[in-house]
Amino acid sequence: MKPVILDVDTGLDDACALLLAARHPELDLKAVTCVGGNVGIDDVVRNTLTVLDAAGRPDVPVARGAAVPLIQPVRSARHVHGEDGLGDLDWPRSTRSTDPRHAVELLRDVLRDAAATGELITLIPLAPLTNIALLLRTYPEAARGLREIVFMGGAAGIGNATAAAEFNIWTDPEAAAIALTAAKDLGIPVTMYGLDVFYDVVVTLDQARALSGSPSAELACKLIEKRSERYQSDGGSIGDGGAVCAVIDPSGLTTLEYPVRIELSGSWSRGRTIVDTRGASDVANDPQGPAATIRVATAVDGKRYAELWLATVS
Ligand code: BDR
Ligand code: CA
Repeated sequence: MKPVILDVDTGLDDACALLLAARHPELDLKAVTCVGGNVGIDDVVRNTLTVLDAAGRPDVPVARGAAVPLIQPVRSARHVHGEDGLGDLDWPRSTRSTDPRHAVELLRDVLRDAAATGELITLIPLAPLTNIALLLRTYPEAARGLREIVFMGGAAGIGNATAAAEFNIWTDPEAAAIALTAAKDLGIPVTMYGLDVFYDVVVTLDQARALSGSPSAELACKLIEKRSERYQSDGGSIGDGGAVCAVIDPSGLTTLEYPVRIELSGSWSRGRTIVDTRGASDVANDPQGPAATIRVATAVDGKRYAELWLATVS
């Protein structure tokens, strides 16, 4: 089994990712850490616990993390995910408590154990990178417990929060810059599962409505219905769930290695991931020096990942 940790701002599509990670037989979900993003941290925590309950995984520790970005004020995406962040479904809320540790401390502890046993962890951030930046700056030794980071965020092409920037990066650009720089310095392999592939793993309404027989399947159906309502189509993307598919089945994702920087200023481009697709000699002679070189997802086998998700959540 592959040990993983999800860092989430649940979120309809984080919920799709949680159901998959909690139920897939080849993943060992060690912990889930929460960060303010799509909605405030209290809603994120409650939604996360609720989804794990539906998945039949009340054993997974969940920790509350950063409530606000490092520098800029919090900005939510309730227009995408509903007032409560989970589509305002009439779904029973979890009464379970969180782990007493802060998310950064839980990450540090789980990663320290992983380094000791050699069972290295794949960290899957699906939210603003605030917790991850804090972790790698405060406890850089945590990198010894990491196999790799596969994060949802950014884009080589257009953004969604703004024309230039994707929501997770735009919400906390400083955190994203710190996380990428720290990963480079600490030698952590990174994959960016960005908007270039994010919308391409689509579950149709017919497929979703065929799911039944368990709380997980029923919640999965409702999540897709909400996603399809939002995008006014006859299906919905599993969004963040695709990044978890990429960890389970990496050969369904096409990636290319590029240097990537985070735009921290700019009139209209703050939070953009600048993916450097120039040739090697231009990159080597860049007067700004080397950027973090990471794997950037450029294409995905959407049908295969949708089937993987459907088979697992049902
Ligand atoms: C990302 O932002 C959030 O709204 C989603 O949960 C996803 O992580 C897409 O830009
Ligand atoms: Ca998310």
